[in-house]
Amino acid sequence: MNTTVPTSVYAQRRARMAAQLGANGIALIPTAPERQRNRDSDFLFRHDSYFYYLTGFTEPNAWLVVTGDGRSTLFCQPKDLEREIWDGYRLGPEAAVGALGVDAAFSIGELDQQLPRLLENRDTVWFPFATHQGLEQRVAGWLNQVRARVRYGALCPEQQRDLCAVLDEMRLVKDAHEQDIMRRAAAISARAHVRAMQASARMLREGRDVREYHLDAELMHEFRMGGSQYPAYSSIVAAGPNACVLHYRADVAPVRPGELVLIDAGCELDGYASDITRTFPADGRFTGAQRALYDLVLASQEAAVAATKPGARFTDPHEAAVKVLAQGMLDVKLLDANKVGTLDDVIEKRAYFPFYMHRTGHWLGMDVHDCGSYVEPGEVGQVSERKDPLSGETIKNRPSRILQPGMVLTIEPGIYVRPGEGVPEQFHHIGIRIEDDAIVTPQGCELITRGVPVKADEIEALMRP
Ligand code: GLY
Ligand code: MN
Ligand code: MN
Repeated sequence: MNTTVPTSVYAQRRARMAAQLGANGIALIPTAPERQRNRDSDFLFRHDSYFYYLTGFTEPNAWLVVTGDGRSTLFCQPKDLEREIWDGYRLGPEAAVGALGVDAAFSIGELDQQLPRLLENRDTVWFPFATHQGLEQRVAGWLNQVRARVRYGALCPEQQRDLCAVLDEMRLVKDAHEQDIMRRAAAISARAHVRAMQASARMLREGRDVREYHLDAELMHEFRMGGSQYPAYSSIVAAGPNACVLHYRADVAPVRPGELVLIDAGCELDGYASDITRTFPADGRFTGAQRALYDLVLASQEAAVAATKPGARFTDPHEAAVKVLAQGMLDVKLLDANKVGTLDDVIEKRAYFPFYMHRTGHWLGMDVHDCGSYVEPGEVGQVSERKDPLSGETIKNRPSRILQPGMVLTIEPGIYVRPGEGVPEQFHHIGIRIEDDAIVTPQGCELITRGVPVKADEIEALMRP
């Protein structure tokens, strides 16, 4: 198990969830399935985030069942010395009760037999909707078995409800244990970015044929040396024009002096993601045009950081970043004021969109794009409508989430310049994003990824010999 969190914390999370199930409710939470990669090879197993949040248990083939009275039952792989020789240690149901603090544990082989019994006389069955392939059908099969016994007096649950609604809200606000792991994941990822920057400049000084995958290897080295289990998502290492491809992956393209490199990479540590983007000159020296756009993106990020505080809306950092970016695009003549008008026009008509086409952040947690509603729950149903000046379509705006201490989000503005009519040539093919991870605090926010510098001068300084 990859957890430093006390067993009692998982028990408290299960109790908080149980309190929301109703006295006669029952919740079913499977971990993730193992997936074949090719022939005899599986993809590296990664537990289900909901399951892990409630158990800290990382073995495959496991289910958690929690009833409204707070009782937890685990189903897990039985001890099997022969299988353990091949696949490794298994906790087993006997040890699971003590190790995980659940009330009962059975072999996973007993799931189909026990579930109809556990579902009997409950009124509501909760499980994560549309998350696990085949889960709905499995639940239906167990419910059918309960229904077959109604003429003997058994009651069958009449309601099925989505457990994600409960767990997403719980996971959205990170407790002190989660914040601690996320700070450590962020620190490892920051070191990895520093290492990749320094390796790029050093290898180019040595006259080496530097490729994107070399920098990917430097990232991975630092992730693993720091104790991270794996990257939280596929690392983007994009040299030169590749930075304008938003979902580019580290590939074979050459890393050339005079060009920028955009790296978007973060490790996962003990089940929690980090997510950092830095853009740096491959050889350690920004050109004038690169620096102009870099400083603009950084200024927009600073505005977004200042807007990230309790009581603000989730969309406030985005709006703050867009305002700075749009003004900067006019100033450096990426946008022609004669054609697009004033700053307000640029924002209203989204004239900045060809150069900044994504949002400024997302929730971060166990999943890199973490769960949690982006709409304020107390204001669901309140919709304001406006006409889109571009398409003429009606756009519905729902009240965005109000930030609270303990929420974690990324702040990641960027600029991506593809050649086009009227686009100054000096900016062609420049792609820049700067991404940090922020914990909302009572005062504002804490950037946990600043172990890697962000100011252009500081990046140049750390890349010098
Ligand atoms: N690395 C994924 C993202 O930035 O959203
Ligand atoms: Mn991100
Ligand atoms: Mn990212």
